[in-house]
Amino acid sequence: IGRVRLVMESALTARDRVGVQDFVLLENYNSEAAFIENLRRRFGEGLIYTYIGSVLVSVNPYKELEIYSKQQMERYRGVSFYEISPHIYALSDTAYRAMRTERKDQCIMISGESGAGKTEASKKILLYYAVTCPINAHMATLGDRLLQSNPVLEAFGNAKTFRNDNSSRFGKYMGVQFDFRGAPVGGHILNYLLEKSRVVHQNHGERNFHIFYQLLDGGDDNLLTTLALQRNPQNYSYLVKGNCPRLSSVSDKNNWKVVMKALSVIGFAEEEVQKLLSIIAGVLHLGNTQFGEGEEGETCITTETHATNLLGVDVSALGEALTHKKLTAKGEEMITPLNFEQAMSARDALAKAVYGRTFTWLVEKINQSVALQVGTTPYDCMLLIGLLDIYGFEVLQHNSFEQFCINYCNEKLQQLFIELTLRSEQEEYEAEGIAWETVQYFDNKIICDLIEEKHKGIISTLDEECLRPGETCDASFLEKLEDTLGGHPHFVTHKLANGKTRKAMGREEFRLLHYAGEVNYNVNGFLDKNNDLLNRNLKEVMCQSHNQIVSYCFRREEVMDQKRPEMAATQFKNNLMKLMEILGSKEPSYVRCLKPNDAKQPGRFDEVLIRHQVKYLGLMENLRVRRAGFAYRRRFEAFLQRYKPLCPETWPNWHGRLADGVSTLVNHLGYKAEEYKLGRSKIFIRFPKTLFTTEDALQAKKPEIGECKNGFPEWRLITIQSGWRGMKARRRAKRRREAAELIRKFIKGFIYRHEDYCPENEYFLDHVRYSFLKNLRKNLPRSVLDKTWPTPPPSLVEASENLWRMHMRNMVVKYCKRVQPEWRKQMIQKVAASEIFKDQKDSYPQGVGRLFLDSRLEREQINLKVVQTLGSDKVQYGVPVVKYDRRGFKPRPRQLLLTNTFAVLVDKTKIKQRIDYAALRGISVSSLSDGMFVLHMPNEDNKQKGDVVLHCDHVIELVTKLAMMASKVNYVNINPGSITFAVARGKEGIIDFVRGSELKVAKGKRGHLLVIAPQINNI
Ligand SMILES: Nc1ncnc2c1ncn2[C@@H]1O[C@H](COP(=O)(O)OP(=O)(O)OP(=O)(O)O)[C@@H](O)[C@H]1O
Ligand SMILES: [Mg+2]
Repeated sequence: IGRVRLVMESALTARDRVGVQDFVLLENYNSEAAFIENLRRRFGEGLIYTYIGSVLVSVNPYKELEIYSKQQMERYRGVSFYEISPHIYALSDTAYRAMRTERKDQCIMISGESGAGKTEASKKILLYYAVTCPINAHMATLGDRLLQSNPVLEAFGNAKTFRNDNSSRFGKYMGVQFDFRGAPVGGHILNYLLEKSRVVHQNHGERNFHIFYQLLDGGDDNLLTTLALQRNPQNYSYLVKGNCPRLSSVSDKNNWKVVMKALSVIGFAEEEVQKLLSIIAGVLHLGNTQFGEGEEGETCITTETHATNLLGVDVSALGEALTHKKLTAKGEEMITPLNFEQAMSARDALAKAVYGRTFTWLVEKINQSVALQVGTTPYDCMLLIGLLDIYGFEVLQHNSFEQFCINYCNEKLQQLFIELTLRSEQEEYEAEGIAWETVQYFDNKIICDLIEEKHKGIISTLDEECLRPGETCDASFLEKLEDTLGGHPHFVTHKLANGKTRKAMGREEFRLLHYAGEVNYNVNGFLDKNNDLLNRNLKEVMCQSHNQIVSYCFRREEVMDQKRPEMAATQFKNNLMKLMEILGSKEPSYVRCLKPNDAKQPGRFDEVLIRHQVKYLGLMENLRVRRAGFAYRRRFEAFLQRYKPLCPETWPNWHGRLADGVSTLVNHLGYKAEEYKLGRSKIFIRFPKTLFTTEDALQAKKPEIGECKNGFPEWRLITIQSGWRGMKARRRAKRRREAAELIRKFIKGFIYRHEDYCPENEYFLDHVRYSFLKNLRKNLPRSVLDKTWPTPPPSLVEASENLWRMHMRNMVVKYCKRVQPEWRKQMIQKVAASEIFKDQKDSYPQGVGRLFLDSRLEREQINLKVVQTLGSDKVQYGVPVVKYDRRGFKPRPRQLLLTNTFAVLVDKTKIKQRIDYAALRGISVSSLSDGMFVLHMPNEDNKQKGDVVLHCDHVIELVTKLAMMASKVNYVNINPGSITFAVARGKEGIIDFVRGSELKVAKGKRGHLLVIAPQINNI
């Protein structure tokens, strides 16, 4: 920003050396001489751009200047219009930024005479946007296609003329659409009035459209053979009229390559290009078609022609159509032969029509390729910049129908210009709260009306004359004009004129006093050109063509439709109306191109020529309107920042309101009331002189304000200060930009979160994963019983499961490593207990919760005799139990001792019963909280007296140990209601279990044993 400030207003500081950068600062703004002198001085310094307010005046340098590089583009990006030297990029950038900040469509109108640099300017603007605008990923190719449309349109629509080696022979409007981010997303081209007559005729020193020469020079031998063409352009009568087959400035061969490449970039299929070239070749062959007299005096074709083949039509049908005319009179068709000359002009009319329509097809095709893709951007978010590159005012030695149309177009543009300029001036005054002062200007409506008014205007008269039955000719048209328009202040003819004017006019001419000056038009050819007629039978032949482009251009409906198509001038008028509507709805910017000399030479500034253009472009008028009110206007902060050293109250800093600061400053400077006005945000200064005096004072003051008290130059402090502030601001802006980018990425990622991993969502998904893992690390469960686990994002479900499993296993392994052998044994038993009883027996939770002891009997509690009897079978576990008789259920206290292979029931000193584990059939317990258990014995064994009914206070522990030692874990039955047990010799006894308040074992009904088990609330 600091840098910009320093160069700001450089128009003022450097004004002596290279004139003024903005014509509004010219002291004598009414002087054409001063205007031209300013242009000349700047041009001499290689400064080709100068402003008139917001209008850019450009003088063709006719040499490559080093001012169009990418660095230059960067330099102009985002910088205020006035702060840096005038440039086409500054204008482009201003329009672009205005579009984005004010959300208004823009148009840039480029005008100037042939060779002044309009097309070059429009290309530079387009390139500026292509390089500096953000690129929409889906539309990366769009920029290429828009840029590549230029060489194609130039090959088919430009030609070497006397004034310009690459003269656009059609008017062009190109609209570029931008999305809400400011990226170009679509384009559209409108073309106006191609100069078709060039196809059949060129003035001396001029050429036909470039494409013909490019094809002959650049096409390879095979292609030329297919198209039956010879390389030498001199062989084609449509190319020899101007006697100028080659251009020194450009290579047709190279351009041919450029065009072919461009066609493929734009998306033309190979086949389409082939068809297009067939038409170009067909037109050349058509031009070589000659006519002669047949045996009966009729006109016939005397040359062999390849045209029919190439245009895809029937030889005899075309021959017939070129030599005859089909008329419909009173519903009857009549065919009349054409004479030799008529046939020639029918042939030329066909060539023009074919070429002209093909050109329109080409534009349509390009439009399809650059069109906005439906659905890519919401339509109401779209903004547009239009570029108008259209013929400027044209005054030739002989001016005909074409110049009439072109100048009419310029008259309309001038009307629009005045309207829009005044409107925007008025709006600015209004916005700033300054009274509007009426501006005197010439309203050219009167001339527009003269040309376009219904029934009375020149175009209406011309149409009427074309349609009028009977003998009509150009001369009768002129008479008609004299009748209807005689006396109009802007119209005069030889007959109507007075002596002096009459001398300067031909008898076949009429003169219009355009806003820019007088032009004489020769009426010869007006009727024909306006009619633009093609015999109906020729159209009929063409619409049957095998060449799809030709049959597309000549529609059957057109032949069927009896209504006469619109005349050329009316068509042009209607197109212009539409164009005015398009332009009128947008914010305009203007580029006015001037041509410094007729010789296309660098460094030559022909004052006469420039004066002529300044006049015809209405630049003085432009300046006058712009200067009518106030010459100079600036925002308060800019004005104060620059001139505050000139007033002690505002220096070095003004802390009050900006408006008050400016007011204090100008009062101190002694501005008179009529010299300035303060608006809401800007100061308006009427005369440049006031500003220059102020600027001179500032320059004089500089050395003085340069020193501050401690000897350190104040300006250095300011520079450092502003540098530092600038850096901080830039850092802040960078951070903000990055943050915005991050948020954007995040939102986009969120929208695409359910898609596969892709560039749109990668950032978001990565972030989600990362934060899940981070969160998980902090919240890992600390015990295997802890079942909490953070919910994973969809993309991590599988990984999360694996992680969970790994973590659990890890915890278990760690735990196991810590376990002592004793504890291990305990656990093994508990696991077995769990397998047997878990969820099946009421007392399990209580039982398993306690420590399982190695034995419930002390060593001394077991009788020594018993120990001796057991001998080597060591007692592994002993526990007191109660045995119930199978009959009568009498309880008897016993000890149950377990060895490795059997158990014994001991009554004090006596082993009462030995139970081999191998013989044990099963163990039954109840599902309640009692300690009853039954050991089932084999019943076929006579020695056994039946099953053993026991009670033990440690039933969970005991049964677990027994089942483990006997390897009978799977033989433990848990019975909910009752246990049936065997009494000797096949009889059965039953134990019934019920829940009650306390444990009780007693005889029940029907000889059953009834066990009441207390309720345990485990749950
Ligand atoms: N800014 C420029 N820098 C260098 N050369 C330029 C510049 N502008 C124009 N020229 C030269 O002038 C020639 C004519 O320019 P251009 O074709 O843009 O004219 P035009 O106004 O479009 O004319 P026409 O109305 O005939 O189409 C260009 O071919 C180029 O050689
Ligand atoms: Mg051009």
